[in-house]
Amino acid sequence: MTDSLDDEPNLMKNVSEPVDRLMNMTTSSLIHRPDLASTVAQAQTFPRIRYMGSKYRLLPQLAEVFESVGGRTPVDASSGSGVVSYLLKTLGYSVTSNDFLTFPSVITRATVANWSETLNDAEVDAICGPTVDDRDFIQSTFKGLYFTPEDLRFFDSAWSHIDSMMGYKRDIAIAALVLSAARKQPRGVFTFTDPTKYFDGRRDLRLTMREHFREAVHDYNAVVFDNGVVSESLCGDVFDVPLIDPDIVYLDPPYAPKKDDADYTKRYHFLEGLSVYWQDMPIMENTKTKKIEKRHTPFASKRTVDDALVRVFEQFSDAGAIVMSYSSNALPESSRIVELLKTIKKDVQVTAVDYRYSFGTHSAALKTTAQELIFVAR
Ligand SMILES: C[S@@+](CC[C@H](N)C(=O)[O-])C[C@H]1O[C@@H](n2cnc3c(N)ncnc32)[C@H](O)[C@@H]1O
Repeated sequence: MTDSLDDEPNLMKNVSEPVDRLMNMTTSSLIHRPDLASTVAQAQTFPRIRYMGSKYRLLPQLAEVFESVGGRTPVDASSGSGVVSYLLKTLGYSVTSNDFLTFPSVITRATVANWSETLNDAEVDAICGPTVDDRDFIQSTFKGLYFTPEDLRFFDSAWSHIDSMMGYKRDIAIAALVLSAARKQPRGVFTFTDPTKYFDGRRDLRLTMREHFREAVHDYNAVVFDNGVVSESLCGDVFDVPLIDPDIVYLDPPYAPKKDDADYTKRYHFLEGLSVYWQDMPIMENTKTKKIEKRHTPFASKRTVDDALVRVFEQFSDAGAIVMSYSSNALPESSRIVELLKTIKKDVQVTAVDYRYSFGTHSAALKTTAQELIFVAR
């Protein structure tokens, strides 16, 4: 899989084959629906974390799909950055959000399940103040990697306060730490060890981690709201998501690439560890990047993805509708996904959105297009 971190959707375009039937959605259709456009605008205020496969830019299209499907109790089975779960919340749903990584579930607990709690100035000042114990795990383990000694010290000292916090306030604090670390990484990933590589002087790289943290808390506080119904956030394998009668299941698994890999732990191990202070997440000491063990998923490999899709479709076959995102760059082909969905649902529709993936960090970088596919089966 490519590092699709700078991905931009083009104007939407229908594809003809091999998909079964296409929904004709255009960006202009949203303009005629101010209610939906303002809901999408609210969802777009969700603090943006650079996340491989994030659907931030597909929110208008997904909003239309969810509105057309209806329902009340969707499951977002692999929430990633959390932005789709948050979109579902802004659309008024009672959302069950899930991911098998911990930091995505902390983010959705802070923003989707949480309907009322925010961190006040005094609480933020306390977290940014002097350490309350002498912990130094992060400073010593990641010395010389990723961040300055001062920033690493801040993580330890912030955690010395967060450790005694509870509930959604704790979740906001951890989510803000994670977002701060992601924002201060030039490319948002932890796959290289030279902290000066890609340093281009931009504001995000100049701010101290403490300054980032204050901004990130502000950004998360701003998106906390009550949509009138209860939502929850789970952390577990999609195959273990309890079947509490969801009427829509949104599936956005890793895209099994034709080449490369779709390994989220390799890219985001620091954020994953930071979200639990590396409790029960041993570091592989022989690795240069000090990463944690890879979390196996059958969706990430072309050998196992077909079977994984068969199983997950079967698991959610009683749901009123399955909405699934996938890329035309990945395996299996869209025609195969339609075939599998048709074994459990009568009506299968596919929308294609042109997508541009960037390779590299500058405008002259090689670009290629792929189509982001949205399957709706009911
Ligand atoms: C394409 S991303 C989801 C992106 C998300 N919809 C967004 O907009 O940010 C795929 C997600 O699937 C999660 N994942 C992979 N295998 C999983 C599994 N077996 N169970 C649950 N989550 C899984 C990964 O951790 C990753 O967050």
